[in-house]
Amino acid sequence: MLLSALSVLLLYIRASSASCSCSTVVIPVDVDVLVPKDPTDMFAGLKSNASSLRRVNDTYDIYGVFCRPEPTAPENSDVLQLLVHGFSYTNQYWSPGIEEFNNYSYTAFSCDSGLSSFAIDSLGTGLSSRPANASDVQLPTGAAVLSQLAHHLKSTPILPGLKAFTKIIGIGHSAGSVQFNVGAIVDGARSPFAGLILTGLLTYTEPLVFPSPPTSARDADPIRWGTLDPAYITLDDRTSLYPSDTTTFSPRMLAFDAFTKDVGAEYFPAQVAAVSIPASHFTGRVGKVVGSEDQMLCAANRCTDVAALSAEEGLLWPAAKSFELVVSQGGGHDLNLDFFAQGLFRTLVGMVERFST
Ligand SMILES: *[C@@H]1O[C@H](CO)[C@@H](O)[C@H](O)[C@H]1NC(C)=O
Ligand SMILES: *[C@@H]1O[C@H](CO)[C@@H](O)[C@H](O)[C@H]1NC(C)=O
Ligand SMILES: *[C@@H]1O[C@H](CO)[C@@H](O)[C@H](O)[C@H]1NC(C)=O
Ligand SMILES: *[C@@H]1O[C@H](CO)[C@@H](O)[C@H](O)[C@H]1NC(C)=O
Repeated sequence: MLLSALSVLLLYIRASSASCSCSTVVIPVDVDVLVPKDPTDMFAGLKSNASSLRRVNDTYDIYGVFCRPEPTAPENSDVLQLLVHGFSYTNQYWSPGIEEFNNYSYTAFSCDSGLSSFAIDSLGTGLSSRPANASDVQLPTGAAVLSQLAHHLKSTPILPGLKAFTKIIGIGHSAGSVQFNVGAIVDGARSPFAGLILTGLLTYTEPLVFPSPPTSARDADPIRWGTLDPAYITLDDRTSLYPSDTTTFSPRMLAFDAFTKDVGAEYFPAQVAAVSIPASHFTGRVGKVVGSEDQMLCAANRCTDVAALSAEEGLLWPAAKSFELVVSQGGGHDLNLDFFAQGLFRTLVGMVERFST
């Protein structure tokens, strides 16, 4: 599994804050991985024998926005946050690209706290490669992309003139967290991540059923997505991703969210129960953060007894250097996009600082 050369687009995007410089970067990532022949296999092939698996060996271009504080404090210059969005989002989840929503930018918040980040479009979404056949976009493929990308970022400077990073903290949201989690199960002690922060994820033991059903992307927007494999899907009704109390988020955020929505392969939600397999050999630090008002994860009072929930979720990370779970009060599934985001951001920066020492 080799990585080819880094390519940098000579574009300069809006700096998120006065002291933060950002550039878009495309990194070709070579992936050689086994996926189940049946992409609806609920454990993503992780419990399968060799005869029910097939090989995906390909190179994908992964697009992302890299931001760093200028100047970067020496104690933080080795650390990179790799930010991965959830299903039907893009890198914009971490930094909604309009002025009005600057307060919802984790990229800007963490940059102001001295931390660099690389927010990518995951495989199949946004400006990253989208394989013609969606059955190549399964959880083991997505997980391998993140691990290979992290290995690359630890061996090769992301931009000319910088050093390679020595510590990478993976921060996911929802399906992004699922991909990091699957990577930790597969890679174990060989994982390139010093720590993982999984937001918007608790253990699933069944395939994910969305509160309102997703639609095939090519039917949802024929002009934009008409030629896609029908197994690329999107979510039209996004209200369940926010708290049920509609006074706790901006209606304009919901509109922005609908306007910037993207696609994902239907196999990610089908395979989400893979995260019920213990990450027995992962030795980094692990944090989980869910919003108390998450309509998908915290229904039926699942998040009320935080100590019990933490103990239960921690069982899946027996070799981790540390495990902690935070229930972020007020937040919905899309923790970054409601009025409680600033509290979440403080929690995340605190975790990153602890995880990178
Ligand atoms: C491998 O898995 C397939 C599908 O689950 C099953 O039909 C087959 O019997 C298994 N083969 C062996 C050798 O275990
Ligand atoms: C995987 O793909 C690479 C690049 O196309 C190729 O060189 C290599 O031989 C492939 N590996 C296998 C086992 O097919
Ligand atoms: C943005 O956050 C700052 C600091 O928390 C706060 O003072 C300000 O009112 C917020 N602005 C908006 C538009 O929410
Ligand atoms: C997608 O790939 C799978 C596995 O190789 C294959 O079975 C399926 O026919 C392909 N679908 C299309 C539309 O080419």
